[in-house]
Amino acid sequence: MDEQIFKEVDNYINNLFAVEDEHLKEVVPSLKESNMQHASISPNQGKFLQIVAKLCNAKRILEIGTLGGYSSIWLARTLPADGQLITIELDIKHAEIAKTNITKAGLQSKVDIRVGKALDILQQLENENAEPFDMIFIDADKPPYTEYLHWAIRLSRQGTVIIADNVIRNGKVLDENSSDQAVQGVQRFNETLAKCSDLTSTIIQTIGIKEYDGMAIAVVNRR
Ligand code: SAH
Ligand code: DHB
Ligand code: MG
Repeated sequence: MDEQIFKEVDNYINNLFAVEDEHLKEVVPSLKESNMQHASISPNQGKFLQIVAKLCNAKRILEIGTLGGYSSIWLARTLPADGQLITIELDIKHAEIAKTNITKAGLQSKVDIRVGKALDILQQLENENAEPFDMIFIDADKPPYTEYLHWAIRLSRQGTVIIADNVIRNGKVLDENSSDQAVQGVQRFNETLAKCSDLTSTIIQTIGIKEYDGMAIAVVNRR
């Protein structure tokens, strides 16, 4: 088996279950000036996030790492009329592109883009006594993933689902001597997640049109 079949089957699944409308189709091209153009989740990963949001009946979703708003649009579309997605983005250029894309998709009333360092905004959310989130998607810079996990737990309730993207990194997590800070970040995250008795967790490998990777999924047992 080669990688080509994973891409073709991913497209087969996307064409059946995760067909992009005009708004989703515009997001990746809208990022052409960004060197992170390829970091958006894939269509069927978007559909997967929607299924999880529906499974936990999410009314409040937190996302760390907005980029152009691709995953935000998939997530916000599952929300009821009074639901809210708070999405955190460090780069003002990404946040502005995301705002345009989210507005074009008619979702601006449900999506609150907070611009700044995620660790600062997460502290702000706690200071504001933010209601606990029903679902939290971690997808920003990889070195502080463990700190994002601790914040996710603080901002959760029993039953909150936490998902983290890019925790396998083309299998590089197996290299105990890796000097790559992103790899080290997710290795520390995965070990912390595995040990955390307040969560029930695992990792699902992701193969398809994006680089081979993985998504961690966890549910909060207690707070
Ligand atoms: N979730 C998006 C992809 C996010 S890519 C999607 O699937 O559509 C990661 C994003 O995290 C980038 O836009 C990057 O600018 C942002 N980011 C990086 N470091 C950050 C930090 N410290 N705080 C907040 N956002 C950060
Ligand atoms: C990168 C970040 C992501 O979240 C992703 O899904 C793919 C790539 C990156 O930092 O290059
Ligand atoms: Mg990602």
